[in-house]
Amino acid sequence: MSTERDFLAITDFSTDELHGLFALADRMRTGEYRARPLEGKAFAMLFMKASTRTRVSFEVGAWQLGAHPLFLTPRDVQLGRGEAMSDTARVLDRMVDGIMIRTFAHADVEEFARYSSVPVINGLTDLQHPCQILADLLTIRQHLGTFEGKTVAWIGDGNNMANSWCDAAFRLGFSLRLACPMGYEPDATILARAQATGRVTLVRDPHDAVAGADVVTTDVWASMGQEEEQAQRATAFAAFHVNAALMQRAASDAIFLHCLPAHRGEEVSAEVIDGAQSRVWDEAANRLHVQKAVMAVLMGGEPLG
Ligand code: CP
Ligand code: NVA
Repeated sequence: MSTERDFLAITDFSTDELHGLFALADRMRTGEYRARPLEGKAFAMLFMKASTRTRVSFEVGAWQLGAHPLFLTPRDVQLGRGEAMSDTARVLDRMVDGIMIRTFAHADVEEFARYSSVPVINGLTDLQHPCQILADLLTIRQHLGTFEGKTVAWIGDGNNMANSWCDAAFRLGFSLRLACPMGYEPDATILARAQATGRVTLVRDPHDAVAGADVVTTDVWASMGQEEEQAQRATAFAAFHVNAALMQRAASDAIFLHCLPAHRGEEVSAEVIDGAQSRVWDEAANRLHVQKAVMAVLMGGEPLG
């Protein structure tokens, strides 16, 4: 059973710990941090969904910290033939020093963490994408100096990204305005907890969300596993398109973020994602730095702060 610390959601870290993580990740980005706290360790990466950024950033990051990363998919491991999550967890637990999982049901990651005594990191579920939000926050810190006192506008689906943004606003106290169509709101419990801060609002018109915002961000209309809903979602999200006219309503120095992969011409226009306000490439690069910080802390005993 689980004895180690896991990272399944942003709220698994305290406010102070999150600040410590960003400071550590910054030292990794600048090259000041050169330690290899995972020397001789093994890190399993279990992908039940596709990935470019998460796979490469975790694999390269684990290697840079001294660990041996293992890339596992349902095509290779017995999970794909129905072996139980709990059995897989107890086997990996005895052979590796940390596990990252990307899967569908959040409950599967929680079950995995319960049955594993090594740290488990959430590489995306249908409910949460906490590693991406850490990278987004690091990018805001990099380009705007701080996220405190800033306003983030989320445009589109109340999906895993939106839920993790709500958790980040709950922990870090910045303002978050979510513009979501009816029926596509974030998880009710996660949203209510964030709204209790008084700084998180849900609106229906993207123009209301972006007015004066410091950060404008969005995501695909249909997430992995929702491919068959694409046509219905295209109708529901038609007005939730980030283009230059919408960006004009944000602060003049506002930045645009997108976790990627992006669909130009759907949730974002090419002029915005490829334009001067876009920081999406730094955002992707920050996945590496911030996840190295998470691995160094959870698996390598690196202190926070
Ligand atoms: N943003 C993100 O998680 O990208 P991948 O799906 O490519 O890992
Ligand atoms: N919401 C998207 C994020 C991809 C990184 C998905 O779950 O597919």
